[in-house]
Amino acid sequence: MDIEFVAAGAAVPAETAILRLEFEGVKYGGALAQAVAASRFTGAKGQTLDILAPQGESAARLVLVGVGLAERFDPIGAEQAAATGYNALKTSGLATLRIEIEGDAETSAHAALGIRLGSYRFDKYRTKEKADKKPSITKVQITAADPAAAAAAFAPMAAIANGIDFTRDLVSEPPNVLYPAEFAARCKALESLGLEVEILGEAEMMQLGMGSLLAVGQGSIRDSQLAILKWYGADDKTSQPIAFVGKGVCFDTGGISIKPAENMEDMKWDMGGAGTVAGLMHALAGRKAKVNAIGILGLVENMPDANAYRPGDVLTSMSGQTIEVINTDAEGRLVLADALWYCQDRFKPKFMVDLATLTGAVIIALGNDYAACYANDDGLAANLLDAAKAEDEGLWRMPLPPAYEKQIDSMIADMKNTGGRPGGSITAALFLQRYVNGTPWAHLDIAGTTWKKPSAVATIPDGAVGYGVRLLNRMVADKYEG
Ligand code: BES
Ligand code: MN
Ligand code: ZN
Repeated sequence: MDIEFVAAGAAVPAETAILRLEFEGVKYGGALAQAVAASRFTGAKGQTLDILAPQGESAARLVLVGVGLAERFDPIGAEQAAATGYNALKTSGLATLRIEIEGDAETSAHAALGIRLGSYRFDKYRTKEKADKKPSITKVQITAADPAAAAAAFAPMAAIANGIDFTRDLVSEPPNVLYPAEFAARCKALESLGLEVEILGEAEMMQLGMGSLLAVGQGSIRDSQLAILKWYGADDKTSQPIAFVGKGVCFDTGGISIKPAENMEDMKWDMGGAGTVAGLMHALAGRKAKVNAIGILGLVENMPDANAYRPGDVLTSMSGQTIEVINTDAEGRLVLADALWYCQDRFKPKFMVDLATLTGAVIIALGNDYAACYANDDGLAANLLDAAKAEDEGLWRMPLPPAYEKQIDSMIADMKNTGGRPGGSITAALFLQRYVNGTPWAHLDIAGTTWKKPSAVATIPDGAVGYGVRLLNRMVADKYEG
């Protein structure tokens, strides 16, 4: 999408639709009064009114988008209004969208971010889509009192949007295309942004003693990988980094404890945690964030096979702790156990935040609009929750009760990999906590928020959300840069 900022009076190109943001309670006179009077449009948040060939306007079409009360209008409101208007006009046949918006440079820039996020499409595998079903808008002009200032304000947001696009592409790719080595190769390509990327294969992970992660990938013909993305953007390149760890199960059949057929195709996005970490690293490098940050992705495929790991197997993790496998479908925690241990052991980070589509139980607890946040450090949890609020990504703190630890006691090993149905997301988090070695740590269970179908949010098209990139980027920007 070609996005530019223009002065309010700039000439309107041919084949243009105008999108006008309207506050609640606005009074219309003149030519528009009749159109508005014939509708229920009041300017309430989310309302739209589509006017064809509007009298007295230079555009072919005019869409009014309500943004609610002026005093409650904020940057997220500008994003949503722009995306709502785009959605109303995207297949109109018109080529250009002019967004008329009042406010500072930041407000215009957020409208542009809304367009970037709302116009995302994953259409590379469609060969027969009819031309009239495809979006026709290829250019968006956004008005600003100072277009150059708006463009400058948008630059770091464009880097975030690029990161979210990267995450959404990874999450959307089918599992026959995006297997661990392909995921790793796409990370390696990010070196063009200035990241350093190291890829470990099975032999290297064997050397490191990663018996937990490797067991999960053992039944797959695809090699497991550990991708390590490094961004050294701080003035002191040797200062202690922050770290993000992602579950990257490129397909989760459940393994020998196989899942039912219904909706199993959803398990292509069981690499959503790794996808978010990769997108975050993309965004940090793209905007040259003044921070040292490490991203670690545990990339595997969980398959049933003659060589697959079994319920009953006892695994030895890199930490030395042993795990009795009760259910091969509780594989994400096994991947993260070694990835987290490796992360703290090698990088001694200020903190680690892991992201994982870890449990169905979190969807039962919080639904699809909130991810669960577990943390052994109140300061880190507060920073994450503040950032989530500012970026309008749902996040809810959950407890790590010591009394629930006994649910993962094993008769023959240090722990077992499932804790039963009660508090399933909590016992998964308690399991992970055993692999952080006292490092300040938070775990985000994003099983509910990684994929939205249908989506009711204009900036999130159906499918891959890209959840977490914004909140983590914001936390880094507000608390760990400079
Ligand atoms: N990847 C799943 C969790 C999941 C379920 C993510 C639905 C997104 C949508 C995870 O590996 C899993 O299978 N968890 C099991 C754990 C159980 C066996 C203890 C679950 O939640 O049922
Ligand atoms: Mn599973
Ligand atoms: Zn899984």
